[in-house]
Amino acid sequence: MRLDKAVALTGLTRSEARRAIAAGRVRVDGRPVRDAAMQVQPEQVRVNGVQLEEPGALYIMVNKPAGVLTATEDRRLPTVVDLLPPALRRRDLGPVGRLDRDVTGLVLLTTDGQLAHRLISPKWKAEKLYRARCEGMLTEREVEAFASGVVLSDFTARPARLVLLETGDDGSTADVALTEGKFHQVKRMFAAVGHPLTGLERLRIGCLSLDPALGPGAWRHLTGDEARALRRMCELEEG
Ligand code: URA
Repeated sequence: MRLDKAVALTGLTRSEARRAIAAGRVRVDGRPVRDAAMQVQPEQVRVNGVQLEEPGALYIMVNKPAGVLTATEDRRLPTVVDLLPPALRRRDLGPVGRLDRDVTGLVLLTTDGQLAHRLISPKWKAEKLYRARCEGMLTEREVEAFASGVVLSDFTARPARLVLLETGDDGSTADVALTEGKFHQVKRMFAAVGHPLTGLERLRIGCLSLDPALGPGAWRHLTGDEARALRRMCELEEG
């Protein structure tokens, strides 16, 4: 494909891609190239030193703000895909698992269906880490209840790790790590032990942590190392 098209896969518009090429910020096989029409494979291209992933294997992290749906389209409400530039919105990216509309934090969008499947499958037990704020004072009793499996009306949750960060009569903050993700699961677990949630943010999926430099609504491509580590974790061949 043309070099400017390959550079636009990063989410730049075609004219921004051409400006990046003209400014010498694009290298092909290590050499700066200023010919936007040059034919390339995306994996030969680096923009500002960052290698492009192959088309068809895009990996993007989004810091989902409250009020945004974890969906690819919706008639009324903004979705995580709407946070991306138009060139990326057309790329068939799907979210890996879902966060409720009021929940914030890490959403992984990818075109890698195999990886997405393994990250959400209970069989593969990829751990998800959340920061939870709840009503009332959490104690070791709740830590033990989470560790032994909170009993809900329709199932018993798998053992989960609860780490208390701040506790007080007027509310507590804790990190909770789960290896399953049933509907409203974290909210239901906290409600079941008598501490309804007042806020929930996802910080990590498996080995992929939310980049603290990404403010609410911001996104970035995963680095090659991050994408490779996720695939390795799910016992997939190098992508
Ligand atoms: N648990 C919930 O209750 N909601 C989410 O969005 C994710 C986990």
